[in-house]
Amino acid sequence: MSKDVLVNVDDISVKYGQHLALSHIHFDINQGDFITLVGVNGSGKTTLAKSLLGLKRIASGRITWVNGQKVGYLPQHTGLENRHFPATVAEVVATGLIKDKGRHTWFNKDDRKRVKKMLKLFGMQDMAKKRIGNLSGGQQQRVLLARSMVMTPDLLILDEPTSALDQTSRDKFLKVLKKLNTEQNLTIILITHDVASIEGYANRVLYLDKHLLFDGSFKKFFETQPFSPFIHTHQPRYVKEGETS
Ligand SMILES: Nc1ncnc2c1ncn2[C@@H]1O[C@H](COP(=O)(O)OP(=O)(O)OP(=O)(O)O)[C@@H](O)[C@H]1O
Ligand SMILES: [Mg+2]
Repeated sequence: MSKDVLVNVDDISVKYGQHLALSHIHFDINQGDFITLVGVNGSGKTTLAKSLLGLKRIASGRITWVNGQKVGYLPQHTGLENRHFPATVAEVVATGLIKDKGRHTWFNKDDRKRVKKMLKLFGMQDMAKKRIGNLSGGQQQRVLLARSMVMTPDLLILDEPTSALDQTSRDKFLKVLKKLNTEQNLTIILITHDVASIEGYANRVLYLDKHLLFDGSFKKFFETQPFSPFIHTHQPRYVKEGETS
């Protein structure tokens, strides 16, 4: 195993009851990787993320953390779509610290500093006291990103964070991620349906359909997987209001 391996995923299979969701998955996550994990609905992307997080038990195989072990997670469904979600921006970011604090669930000065620093990093410092539900989709995603980063994770897993964003917000969001990846050497796994828009940000594609079908560069992915129904159905299209698509 090479020195800069962060996580080794060795031949894992995962089941829900009798249903096999992941079959004999094998790959390494290297420090500094920016991986995009792609695949059709139900192909096991979220299941793989949850297995890495220890939220879903694996049926066989082994996951080994070689370096570091803190994972930041931006889940697929958060409930924040609800406009009446009773928390402010700063409070949502602070919940990212709860796991770190064990039984001590009150927040001290140091925590408040960390939260402030994160909000600043993502350009949200003026919104700290706003209700999360009153923010735009793009702003909410940045708050969630701040929450997943407040513990300074070794690996950040984002499950379709951009699917509800327009193109401008999506590009902004991806630029922030790229910056974290290049400047802080943060390792990232980004789950998406929109593989074309991630090209230029991520450096590695994992293509999943219960089995791992592909692991490599974008160039190779587009060369070797051209007939994947996935690519055709998920190409982004620019449709102007008032025009028929
Ligand atoms: N809690 C669960 N109980 C039973 N089956 C589940 C559960 N979660 C997922 N599955 C099944 O496991 C398979 C993989 O699901 P998963 O959510 O990992 O796919 P996905 O690639 O994330 O899909 P999507 O793109 O729709 O988010 C699917 O067949 C799904 O129906
Ligand atoms: Mg999913």
